[in-house]
Amino acid sequence: MLLEVSDLSAGYLGSSVLEHVSLRVERGITLVLGPNGAGKSTLIRSVAGTLRPVAGSLRLDGVPLETLRAHQVALQGVATSPERARLFTDLKVVDNLRLGADLARRRGEAVDWEKTLATIFRIFPGLPPILSQRAGQLSGGQQQAVAIARALAAQPRLLLLDEPTTGLHPVLVRDLLGRIQEIAKDLPVLLTEQNALQTIPLAREVHLLEAGRIVLSGPPERFLADDRVRRAYLGEGAEPPPLTEPPPAAEG
Ligand SMILES: Nc1ncnc2c1ncn2[C@@H]1O[C@H](COP(=O)(O)OP(=O)(O)OP(=O)(O)O)[C@@H](O)[C@H]1O
Ligand SMILES: [Mg+2]
Repeated sequence: MLLEVSDLSAGYLGSSVLEHVSLRVERGITLVLGPNGAGKSTLIRSVAGTLRPVAGSLRLDGVPLETLRAHQVALQGVATSPERARLFTDLKVVDNLRLGADLARRRGEAVDWEKTLATIFRIFPGLPPILSQRAGQLSGGQQQAVAIARALAAQPRLLLLDEPTTGLHPVLVRDLLGRIQEIAKDLPVLLTEQNALQTIPLAREVHLLEAGRIVLSGPPERFLADDRVRRAYLGEGAEPPPLTEPPPAAEG
């Protein structure tokens, strides 16, 4: 067991968003699906310590996270690629990665910089040619890759990814999801997505968040078989509205 979220409630200035959310993140990809506004980012922020939960508990291998500040959560080995990447846009790509490695050093991890880069380049072979570019000048897909690479440079125990494929071309979406799958072989990942069809098969456990509550949890097979999921997220089995009156049945 790694991260245990129990009965978590969270919100903003008195408005409640998440209610009684419980889930576990162990190995592989733990996927949280949900429409816009469901509370996916609120969940990620609560775990990452950028939002203090109202109630409930967050335990990382038994250590309580819910009272920690964001930097303290990071020092516990939780790395985050937040919604819309949020890099240090004035710094070069390589310096963004160095800041990740600095975090690992502050946690007392031995950092072999060359080895760190080699690991990152194995997952993101597109990074070496852009290392000296300013992060703010990169495309959305490149920024997403750098944000995840920076998180990896911190040598985390847990990786939080908030909708990493948003705004990417379908080919890049497939490509990035493949890389996340690769990462998750060695590192537990909590992933939020709206893209159900492509992400469900990659997950070990899937949770469906609607209006701040988990309404369905299970392994991918069960998820793909659920009528609600098929209708709402895969667009299957829904009756399309008639565009015109049906023609009268032919007689005879
Ligand atoms: N900083 C904030 N202050 C106040 N309300 C917020 C804030 N951030 C989010 N909310 C509200 O909390 C609810 C959940 O938002 P959240 O961003 O967690 O949803 P989400 O599932 O990540 O959506 P999306 O798919 O659009 O990213 C929404 O009603 C939103 O308006
Ligand atoms: Mg969000």
